[in-house]
Amino acid sequence: MAERSYIVSPKINIAELDDRHYDVIIIGAGIAGMTVALSLDPKFKVALVSKEHLEESSTYKAQGGMAISLGADDSLEEHIADTMRVGRGLCHEPAVETTIRESPNALDFLQSLGTDFNRGEDGLYLGKEAGHSHHRIVHYYDSTGRHIAETMAKQIQMQEHIDMLDHCFVVDLLTQNDQCYGCIVLHSGKLVTLRAHAVVMATGGYSGLFARSTNSIAANGDGIAAAYRAGAAIADMEFVQFHPTSFATLSGDIFLLTEALRGEGAILRNAAGERFMFSYHGDGELAPRDEVSRAIVTELQSAKQEVVFLDARHLGKEFLMDRFRQVYGELLGNGYYMEKDLIPIAPAAHYTIGGIATNLWGQTTLPCLFACGEVAATGLHGANRLASNSLLEGVVFGRRVAQAINQGFPVNHSLISRKAMIDGTILRHRCDTKKLGITLDRVAGVVRNGDSMRSVLIELQQEENSDSSYVSSIQGYQGYNACQLAELVLKAALLRCESRGTHYREDYPEKKDADFSKHVVQQWGKGSVLHEQVSIR
Ligand code: SIN
Repeated sequence: MAERSYIVSPKINIAELDDRHYDVIIIGAGIAGMTVALSLDPKFKVALVSKEHLEESSTYKAQGGMAISLGADDSLEEHIADTMRVGRGLCHEPAVETTIRESPNALDFLQSLGTDFNRGEDGLYLGKEAGHSHHRIVHYYDSTGRHIAETMAKQIQMQEHIDMLDHCFVVDLLTQNDQCYGCIVLHSGKLVTLRAHAVVMATGGYSGLFARSTNSIAANGDGIAAAYRAGAAIADMEFVQFHPTSFATLSGDIFLLTEALRGEGAILRNAAGERFMFSYHGDGELAPRDEVSRAIVTELQSAKQEVVFLDARHLGKEFLMDRFRQVYGELLGNGYYMEKDLIPIAPAAHYTIGGIATNLWGQTTLPCLFACGEVAATGLHGANRLASNSLLEGVVFGRRVAQAINQGFPVNHSLISRKAMIDGTILRHRCDTKKLGITLDRVAGVVRNGDSMRSVLIELQQEENSDSSYVSSIQGYQGYNACQLAELVLKAALLRCESRGTHYREDYPEKKDADFSKHVVQQWGKGSVLHEQVSIR
């Protein structure tokens, strides 16, 4: 492996930092990280590291639910087929099979922790979302993620073997002899080293890099950037899923309006008040997410408008206030009555398909580093994620990672001693993340174009080469990570000279299977390369 890179301050003597030892370090406390923590053998001493409040996690913000084929007319095979079809030829079939075949166990696991889901007359009430051939979304009103996250967090608090390290920012991973043995964190204003036999990355995705995003700004891909600097292969970074229906609040924050609304019958109207989705796709408002987002952008461009409208008026106040209680309250707070008003919406970055490449046990190319949840690229989602498959992925792969560690998969068996100095390149650069977010919306949004992406990439690289400042605050580290990830997204998007799933290029509008039924794999020192598959030992 080429000499590795860090953003931690230059010439830091890590032997002088406070040092804590664990068996397993889990970085990220959303659904995937908490699943790992609750599924590990309690004989392990575990650190569960999180940088933000639970409410900022994408799990907490997830409204829709979890896709599980429980209907009498449904089957695991049909859920597999829907996932593969929506993934536009790039799904890794073993990852799809594994996730969906293990979905009933994932549901049992969540229920065993005390999670409730809404019930109808014949068992769980199954919602419908885009791209699914059947009603199969188990949910808790429109706050499924919040309910799951709160239930899991209560369980975590009861476990004596799990140390919660809140407001703890992971700056860099520690590696020696091409193995991961811990991380450097900024905790209570001090740099500290955490060492363990296994490190699990579960920090979520990078949609928060975009100015228009349904995620919190905390979702800026820090975990992917740290793993990349440590030498782990990352994949599929060009695939960012844009949710068609986001609402901009009075304070300028973006708020998700769940796809379940359209599943229950809400429709989309353009500036002229016309229902338009059937002119683009036979499934209308329930066409796959990439198609709906692109149709909205086409409508916006042709009418020179900023928003189209979600119309749920016909669903009635009583139903809306019960089934969509969170959304209803949020919209009311912004002056909209769902039963009376058309709700202005536009697409926003929502979910990142790319991430740290893993196998079916969450192992990465860097031994002793595991990854699961949105931070990982398992291949489940291909080029376009099927709605409500991601909470499911977090549970299935969180359990598999824990199982792998419980069964003694390759982990460091002795705690590696700290080297006195970090050995590698220290990277420097400052970044204006706000400006970057607006730029990414413009050039790497729903519709992309090679020339604009290329010129932004060149600009970022020039800024990087001309900047000689080291960063040493959380904001600085996050800024560095944001720039590093933006470059990776742009390089991957430029390499994929076609349109597929969430990645649409107006200069290459066709899907080109002969050249691009492949994954963009990026690794420190090895560049960005198209591969048939990512190989992990
Ligand atoms: C939603 O509620 O629309 C989000 C569901 C998802 O992203 O899977």
